[in-house]
Amino acid sequence: MLKFTVKEGSVLREHVDAILVGIYEDGREKSPLAAEVNRLPGGVLDRVIRRKSFSGKAEQTEILESREMVPAGYFILCGLGRADKAGCEQIRQAMGRGLLRAREMGLKRVGVSAASFIYSSENILAEDAAVAMTEAANLALYRFSKYKVKENGNSKNLEEIRFVEEDKKTVAEVKKGIEKGRIISDSVNLARDLINHPANDMTPSILAESARKMASAARIKCAILSRPQIEKLGMGAYLGVSQGSVEPPKFIILEYNGGKKGDKPVVVVGKSITFDSGGISIKPSEGMGKMKYDMSGGAATIGVLRAASMLKLPLNVVGLLPATENMPSGSAIRPGDVLRSMSGRTIEIISTDAEGRLALSDALFYATRYKPRWIIDIATLTGACAVALGSHAIGMLGNNKDLKGRMAAAGEKVWERVWEMPLWDEYAEQIKSQVADMKNSGGREGGVITAAIFLSKFVEDYPWVHLDIASTEWIDKDRAYIPAGPTAIGTRLILQLLMDAC
Ligand code: BES
Ligand code: MN
Ligand code: ZN
Repeated sequence: MLKFTVKEGSVLREHVDAILVGIYEDGREKSPLAAEVNRLPGGVLDRVIRRKSFSGKAEQTEILESREMVPAGYFILCGLGRADKAGCEQIRQAMGRGLLRAREMGLKRVGVSAASFIYSSENILAEDAAVAMTEAANLALYRFSKYKVKENGNSKNLEEIRFVEEDKKTVAEVKKGIEKGRIISDSVNLARDLINHPANDMTPSILAESARKMASAARIKCAILSRPQIEKLGMGAYLGVSQGSVEPPKFIILEYNGGKKGDKPVVVVGKSITFDSGGISIKPSEGMGKMKYDMSGGAATIGVLRAASMLKLPLNVVGLLPATENMPSGSAIRPGDVLRSMSGRTIEIISTDAEGRLALSDALFYATRYKPRWIIDIATLTGACAVALGSHAIGMLGNNKDLKGRMAAAGEKVWERVWEMPLWDEYAEQIKSQVADMKNSGGREGGVITAAIFLSKFVEDYPWVHLDIASTEWIDKDRAYIPAGPTAIGTRLILQLLMDAC
């Protein structure tokens, strides 16, 4: 496991394999560390910059042999981008890229100074820089190799990231930052692991056991409801999704009580379809295997609860995961069927592939039992969201301006940005049914919105925000600190929202 350590001193005198040197594109003179490296015999930095092989652009890296000018073998120059854009995201990207280079080179120990990555101490605290750097390290170096039996154990791995800071005060701040960044990124990586498991090894029952395991390690409450209890609650919409599957549904309830007894909780509801075949409205076979990730919202919810508890946030937080598969079979729901939800509303099934909103509707209604401060749901809900926003923005819709504003602000901080779409009454027309109270699909037009309108009917008047993470929850190409695969997006976002609410 990757180790993070911190000590006082000068990183240039550290016996490590390489030292990361962060450099802003147009502000090299602003970094005392870069200046110091440049003062070494030969003016190394000036040389590479003159050669134009490195200019400090975001995500750019360059290896320099240290030639015994310092104990470390290499300098890894990491571009931090333009100084006028300096912020935590630039730091995360530079750190991620730099460490990936170090790992490729087969290095084990890397030295770094959090203070040296900060452009201006007025806008970034050392603690926050250390959070960003620790997160980036742990997220960038993540791998999922459980099923690569032959490769296991042979891959290159970094062992230690050593922060070396000039003074005691910074050392103390960085220490706190490392602790926080570690908890947050471990929670994201836990969510990534859950998502990465194939659906045959991540059934609703296994997801429930994983949640239970996390809960006992993080000392939070966990209850798992099985079919008879779910039936008793009258969750006919959720049960409808599950009736075509051999795997039984599990309704997972996580409760972290870090707040005062009477404090209204924040309830997070995560879509937890462990495999979405589409059901009788079956999906095209191409790419269907990816639908193992249809529980990404639930996985993020598990990550949020874990981190909230380990960070000891002074809040009450509940996580709800209505876990089930969506499968076609002789017992599956059919288009045209009518289901009765826990709220009493009846739903005409237009497409059995619009299953997420069915499972969520009952979980959202269940959430109102807590008389919550906020309800947040997170779901790989619609292909329409992928079309509308691509892979860089989460679709956000909700009924409360204050909550949406907070979410948008949190998104900027953690770089899991949201983009609002309208939740106007006019769109409700599209989900009116001839035979029931509503139908589960409003057709192609405005698919993100009509799905959210559907959900909105189940949250009463509680402040609620919906996050559609379809197409942001998985990437096909590596990013600076997000390897190709599940992003577990939403975990850091919701956590930031919670931290800001303390
Ligand atoms: N899980 C899918 C949405 C999805 C699609 C997520 C692609 C990520 C990538 C969801 O259950 C679904 O199938 N939605 C349908 C809804 C439609 C039938 C109203 C869709 O988007 O096509
Ligand atoms: Mn579906
Ligand atoms: Zn789905």
